Amino acid sequence: MNPAAVAPSSRTDQLYARLQAARARSDELFKILRPAALYDRPVPERHRIIFYLGHLEAFDWNLLRESLDLSAFDADFDKLFAFGIDPVEGGLPTDQPKDWPSTDRVREYKQHLRDKLDGAIRTGGAKDPSLARLEHGRLLEVAIEHRLMHAETLCYMLHQLPVDRKFSEPAAPALSAPAGEMHCVEIPAGTATLGLARGVDAPFGWDNEFEEHCVEVPAFAIDARNVTNRDYLRFVREGGYEHRNLWSDSAWEWITSQEHLYPSFWIPNGDSWCYRTMFAEISLPLDWPVYVSHDEASAYARWAGKELPSEAEWHRAALGARDGSERTYPWGAEAPAAGHGNFDFTRWDLVPAGSYPEGKSDFGVADLVGNGWEWTRTPFAPFPGFQPFSFYPGYSANFFDGKHFVMKGGSPRTAACMLRRSFRNWFQPHYPYVYATFRCVEH
Ligand SMILES: [Fe+2]
Repeated sequence: MNPAAVAPSSRTDQLYARLQAARARSDELFKILRPAALYDRPVPERHRIIFYLGHLEAFDWNLLRESLDLSAFDADFDKLFAFGIDPVEGGLPTDQPKDWPSTDRVREYKQHLRDKLDGAIRTGGAKDPSLARLEHGRLLEVAIEHRLMHAETLCYMLHQLPVDRKFSEPAAPALSAPAGEMHCVEIPAGTATLGLARGVDAPFGWDNEFEEHCVEVPAFAIDARNVTNRDYLRFVREGGYEHRNLWSDSAWEWITSQEHLYPSFWIPNGDSWCYRTMFAEISLPLDWPVYVSHDEASAYARWAGKELPSEAEWHRAALGARDGSERTYPWGAEAPAAGHGNFDFTRWDLVPAGSYPEGKSDFGVADLVGNGWEWTRTPFAPFPGFQPFSFYPGYSANFFDGKHFVMKGGSPRTAACMLRRSFRNWFQPHYPYVYATFRCVEH
């Protein structure tokens, strides 16, 4: 829908409803935790979980407060909960649970901020109605998507918690179709349109999505489905983690110093392997795509004599069509729906690769959106014409350092609004907890 076609007040109503829905998503995550687990740190490089309970509210508050003419309630908490950690330099946080406020105090802060923000949003407390409304709309979308992104990245953390630290949720019906045989699909040379065009009527996008531009992509062949646990097991059994030449210098340093010798979702079990789902340990699901870091995906690709796709190649394979046109989604123009893929919080875990034939691209490539992000070999960098948001200058720019790589697509825990073609995700190459899968290309 064209945002400008909606009257300002009803547009704010829509955004307010979306904010409420996003809050319900993040609230439900904290409910799966047993109370003591709120002070756990399931990922050593990140904050304790209690930080995120405060952060989601402090972020909205710090972002919206000024536009809504609201005065500070707890400036210390606003600062304490302002920013997370992206651990590129290797130092680990050393704070203790006692260093953090009580759950009751954080919940009180959360409720107070929500009440104040809600009152101001509903009564339109902004100073300059015409200008502020537009800015206000963008800021609300930033708040909504920021929260939904955390609803996914929090899952990465909660996934690493021992099963007995969580209350189990009923599982969605299992899909047990075996992943099809691996084969390659030829993608002819063509144009890929990346990014979003700027304009008053443009849909919302983060700073790194602008501007729209075309890339000419030579012909290549791409795996028709993701590399599965079965495929990856062969790599492990054939000594993939022992062959120095398959790994970059920094990747080798990472796997040897951390003794990281298999995917972080796998659990050794004698001569076989188990697997950590969100709420259980099961035998290794061979037909599911393998979740691995960028370093591991790159090593596998090198072992297979291939490489990871570039961001533009992902666009060609996912959104290009045989008649030379480009699509909104791999399956066409229809909004994402249940039959198109495994996304939008329907499931906690993966399903066998290739389970959604309706979601295939025009070239016949499966699961390019959903059932795990797709690693690319493209370092995260600005598009031509990039401008940081004035109200959040470091959102992307802090990560244009050559140490992060672009992921496309989406995981089971990615909200539908972020499955748009221009959305770019990124992570550093040896962070193994992300819901990221991969496939290979040949030239
Ligand atoms: Fe955040």
